[in-house]
Amino acid sequence: MSDNPKHLLIVDDEAALREAIAERLADRGFVVEQAGSGEEALERLAAFAFDVLISDLKLPGIDGRQVVDAAIERYPEIIPIVITGYGTVKDAVEAIKQGAADFITKPFQFDALMHVLQSAMEQRRLKSENAYLRSQLEQRYRLGGIVGRSRPMRELFQLLETVAVTSSTVLITGETGTGKELAARAIHHNSPRRANRFVALNCSAIPETLLEAELFGHVRGAFTGAVGNRQGRLEQAHKGTLFLDEVGTMSPALQAKLLRVLQEREFERVGESHTVKIDVRVIAATHSDLAKMVADGTFREDLFYRLNVIPVQLPPLRERREDIPLLVQHFIERLVAESGRPSATMSQEAMRHLMAYHWPGNIRQLENAVERALAFTRDRAQIDLADLPPEIQNQPSAGADAQVWFPDEGIDFERYIEAVELSLIRRSLERTRGNKRQAAKLLNLKRTTLI
Ligand SMILES: Nc1ncnc2c1ncn2[C@@H]1O[C@H](COP(=O)(O)OP(=O)(O)OP(=O)(O)O)[C@@H](O)[C@H]1O
Ligand SMILES: [Mg+2]
Repeated sequence: MSDNPKHLLIVDDEAALREAIAERLADRGFVVEQAGSGEEALERLAAFAFDVLISDLKLPGIDGRQVVDAAIERYPEIIPIVITGYGTVKDAVEAIKQGAADFITKPFQFDALMHVLQSAMEQRRLKSENAYLRSQLEQRYRLGGIVGRSRPMRELFQLLETVAVTSSTVLITGETGTGKELAARAIHHNSPRRANRFVALNCSAIPETLLEAELFGHVRGAFTGAVGNRQGRLEQAHKGTLFLDEVGTMSPALQAKLLRVLQEREFERVGESHTVKIDVRVIAATHSDLAKMVADGTFREDLFYRLNVIPVQLPPLRERREDIPLLVQHFIERLVAESGRPSATMSQEAMRHLMAYHWPGNIRQLENAVERALAFTRDRAQIDLADLPPEIQNQPSAGADAQVWFPDEGIDFERYIEAVELSLIRRSLERTRGNKRQAAKLLNLKRTTLI
């Protein structure tokens, strides 16, 4: 159970049963109040905002349905669970339609009630967490299609917005799948050039011999296979933005020509001597370490400085894990909207594993994992651990580390550890109903140490 004790109201006219349940719920850490009639329940509800209401449906006078109604009306967040008599499932279904979270049929074992209660609380927690994430997605934590709330991402948004209004050349670096192209598009779409084109050219995807013609265009007969005149990407991006992806793979000859474009804003089409003037903003990206390539002599130093006027570095996902829940929500919403399938939420266990994973493929890999998981989930409402890709399921350490909450502003180490200790001790005592010897055993401690 969470750290704040839950306040619970149990309503039943059978005093012995009610008291027995109340006592056991109190053992489990709930703060319990009781009411023996609908009238009494309404009084208690008027006086206090309970987290959970457990009410028998059949009560003399004001019945359980009216109690549930009144509770929901007053406290929309309350978790109402109804107790029904044997053979009255229809009433239970009615109660659920009316807003009850779940029902349990008399006679029942206490453990069955606990199960119903815990899953209702878990559902509620997920629901409010999702509502919270959704509101964050709608508000601040995005720029164009880029989603993030961690400090590095908020800083990135600021940098991108600042850079966007200039025409300076930008060099974006980051591991594969960190969103380099997305960042380049965000700069373009927030810039005064947004009405013109964003043209992307992946330098590593085109054979060296064709790259020059692709970039600068060519005239008919310039080389074997050049059947007509063709406009290059540079000209297509006139007054707009040219995105040069994997710029580190360019040959030295082409590097020299690109340098001239950046310095003089002019070039010649392949097979022509006429000089073309151009107004284009260049954004380059690379996953390799250009500075090191300069040191090794494989990348021109002068070009590096021309490109690196404004460096933008995208952090790997494993360094900003707090973005993962928001990204997951973002991808689920997008996939649901595209496919029309019913939405689903990530179970806590699955989310823990996503948070603990090291994500070598960064956000692209996360996006793929969410898509796959949704497909495996079919029309279930919850994505379980088993729906995730095997490499994420089978992490030995997905547990402790992911559960530790480590906010940007840091934590008080001593107090944090103390709180964790207390929480574990409290939970072991809860589980053993206060038996210190058994609790010590659960914690692998000596009884005296525990005390
Ligand atoms: N912060 C983010 N928020 C939402 N989606 C993102 C984010 N970053 C990346 N993505 C998505 O992840 C995928 C990979 O992003 P992108 O293609 O921009 O990465 P990249 O750094 O260019 O990768 P590569 O080096 O492999 O080319 C895309 O589908 C993109 O939409
Ligand atoms: Mg890319």
